[in-house]
Amino acid sequence: MSSIDIPREQWATRAGFILAAVGSAVGLGNIWRFPFLTAESGGAIFVLVYLLLVALIGLPVMLVEFVIGRRSERNPIGAFRRLGHPSWRFAGAIGAFAGFVILSYYSVVGGWVLQYIVASFSGGYGGDAELFFVETASGTNAIVSHAAFMGLVAGIVALGVREGLERAAKVMVPSVIVLLVILAGYGATLPNASTGYQFYLNPDVSTFASDAVSILPAAAGQAFFTLSLGMGVMITYSSYLGEDRDLLNDSIIIVVIDTFIAILAGLVVFPFLASQGVDLETGGGGAGAVFISLATAFESMPAGHLVGGLFFIMLAIAALSSAFSILEVVVSFVTDTFDVDRVPATIGLAAVIFVVGIPTATDLNYLDAYDLFANNILLIVGGLLLSIFIGWVYAPDALEELGQGRGGNGLFDTYWITVVRVVVPLVLLYTVYLAVVEYIEFLQGTFF
Ligand code: TRP
Repeated sequence: MSSIDIPREQWATRAGFILAAVGSAVGLGNIWRFPFLTAESGGAIFVLVYLLLVALIGLPVMLVEFVIGRRSERNPIGAFRRLGHPSWRFAGAIGAFAGFVILSYYSVVGGWVLQYIVASFSGGYGGDAELFFVETASGTNAIVSHAAFMGLVAGIVALGVREGLERAAKVMVPSVIVLLVILAGYGATLPNASTGYQFYLNPDVSTFASDAVSILPAAAGQAFFTLSLGMGVMITYSSYLGEDRDLLNDSIIIVVIDTFIAILAGLVVFPFLASQGVDLETGGGGAGAVFISLATAFESMPAGHLVGGLFFIMLAIAALSSAFSILEVVVSFVTDTFDVDRVPATIGLAAVIFVVGIPTATDLNYLDAYDLFANNILLIVGGLLLSIFIGWVYAPDALEELGQGRGGNGLFDTYWITVVRVVVPLVLLYTVYLAVVEYIEFLQGTFF
């Protein structure tokens, strides 16, 4: 019996799919990457562009992935074959490659989180939060914790799809929200908090014109990263979805929760950064900003080590549920394309990805280099190709699929296919162009 004939396993419950998708979306992207990128990219104006791109590009592209996944009931590679367009498999392959690169440094940052958990329960983050971060993010510490995080991810993936995914997200999402709200409340009481809010929430629209060239790729990359788009995670997850489900409805829920958590994370990080006297206008401390500011906060607040421990545990769970969504896609790519079993494929890939990530564990410049390349370029190219496919090659079937579970197509569907055909490709094409130019400059400025 060929694999085509086996009825596809489906999500056990409606909440199961949403929770797993949210589990993939909510992660280090929301709590680590979004705040530090905002700090580096000019604050509130970046936030504004990011929100616009999430609504205008992110949501439609998520629906593109959902339509492909549910229609084909396959992972990103098998999907195009199943839909009768095998030559588009390369789009899936780019996605898998993006996942490969992302996971290699995502796991390094996940390792930092593991170290902060240990520190929370064994005497704190040292007197000097900045020094503590440097020790965390370099040398043996960083490599060992990277290995530990990767091991956890591989363990979960090797055990199969549903179990780990659904259960983890169920606890994680509400807990993350509760903890962030508590921290945001505490942040509001800090001296200078208003400087932080000002920077974060009060956009100076006049600066956009001069900075568009760097804001646009950064915001687009972040929108894709945080929503887990561009590499086929959402194709894979929706491939387990029944025809009775309303894709639009589910995508809105996922996007709103993910965006809410990112915004909340900023409401925590910015008052803390401002109260520590960080000059936000000149860039708030790079990849370490969130870790340094939070650790300082936990040192100073009542029961701080306990709150900190809980916070980093939640962050680790959020990071794990995102990381295994990435590894899942890469593994299914390899098991579908080559004749290997799931467990050896998982172990082998995890080992290779671990090795690829090692440079980023030893030097933050490499981390930036991987991150910019994967997010601002690869994910965007992935999203671009998927949108062109749906908009120009597969539109009638895509519309039919989007109408399933909602009693046919409505006004939104017309809007959607138009955006997917025209707006998304144009914006993303321009974004990729800017990103490539910026990336070359970055490499020249950093490594040569
Ligand atoms: N969205 C996750 C985060 O914000 C990261 C992530 C998981 C991801 N799966 C992805 C990013 C797929 C890009 C593509 O932390």
